[in-house]
Amino acid sequence: MADRPLALVVGANRGIGLGVVSAFLAREWDVIATARAPDAAKDLQALAARNPGRVEIRALDMSDAAGIDGFAASLAGRTLDAILVNAGVAGPAHRSANAATVEETGELMFVNAIAPIRLGRLLLKSLKSGSGVLGYTSSVMGSVALNAGGHELYRASKAALNSLSRGLFAEMRGRNLTLLTLHPGWVRTDMGGSGAPVRVEESARGLVDVILKSSGSRRHAFLDYQGKEIAW
Ligand SMILES: NC(=O)c1ccc[n+]([C@@H]2O[C@H](COP(=O)([O-])OP(=O)(O)OC[C@H]3O[C@@H](n4cnc5c(N)ncnc54)[C@H](OP(=O)(O)O)[C@@H]3O)[C@@H](O)[C@H]2O)c1
Repeated sequence: MADRPLALVVGANRGIGLGVVSAFLAREWDVIATARAPDAAKDLQALAARNPGRVEIRALDMSDAAGIDGFAASLAGRTLDAILVNAGVAGPAHRSANAATVEETGELMFVNAIAPIRLGRLLLKSLKSGSGVLGYTSSVMGSVALNAGGHELYRASKAALNSLSRGLFAEMRGRNLTLLTLHPGWVRTDMGGSGAPVRVEESARGLVDVILKSSGSRRHAFLDYQGKEIAW
C-alpha cells in the first residue's frame, strides 16, 4: 500500500460495506476490508483484483470477542485515517421483545452495539490524531426522538450503539478525533430489501463524503448519508 490515506471498513463483503470500499477507492484511498469469510467474499476479491495492492482483505467475525481483540492487536503500529464499522444484522424475523429469546437478543446486541464499541475503543490509538474519523453505520431507527414504533429489537440495538458511541466519544476527549454515528439511508441491500429507494452506490458515496467532510471537526454527530443531522 502506498502513501494514500488508509480506511478500515468492517463488514465489507456485500451491501453498503462493499459499496463503501469502492467509494474510498474512487477517492484514492487504500482500504483494509473485513469479511467473516474472506474466501467466500467473491465480490470483494474481484474489487481488490481490479485495484491491485490497494485492498487488504482480512477475516473478522463481530460475534467473536477474542477475534475482535486479536484483529485490533494485529493493526498495532499502523495508522488509520478513517474507520467505518458497518457490519450489522437485522435480528430475529419476529422483531418483537415479547417473542425474543436470550440467545437471539444477545447475538443482536453484541454484533450491532457491543462489538463495534469494543473494536473502536481498541483501535483509537491507531487513528490518526487530528484528522482521524471513527464511523459507525447506525440507523435512523436508533433515534429515540424519531421512534414511531415497530422493529423494536433492531431499533434497540442501534439506540444502544448510539448511546455507547456517545460514551466512547467522552473517552476520546483530548485525542483530537471525530466520531460519526451514521444513517446510510434506506438502501437496496439484502437487509434493506428490493423496494428500498436508495442505491448502494449513492449511499456509499454519500457516507464517504460525509466522513471526509467531517474530518478534523472533532465532534460526535449523528448524520445521514447526505450530511443531514438526525435527532438523537
Ligand atoms: N440497508 C438499509 O436500508 C440500512 C438502513 C440503516 C442501517 N443499515 C445498516 O447498515 C449496515 C450494513 O447493512 P446492509 O444493508 O449492507 O446489510 P447486508 O447487505 O445484510 O450486509 C451486512 C454486512 O454485515 C456483515 N455481518 C453481519 N454479521 C456479521 C458478523 N457477525 N461479523 C462480521 N460481519 C457481519 C455481513 O457479512 P456476511 O455476508 O458474512 O453476513 C455483511 O457484510 C448494517 O449495520 C445495517 O444495520 C442498513
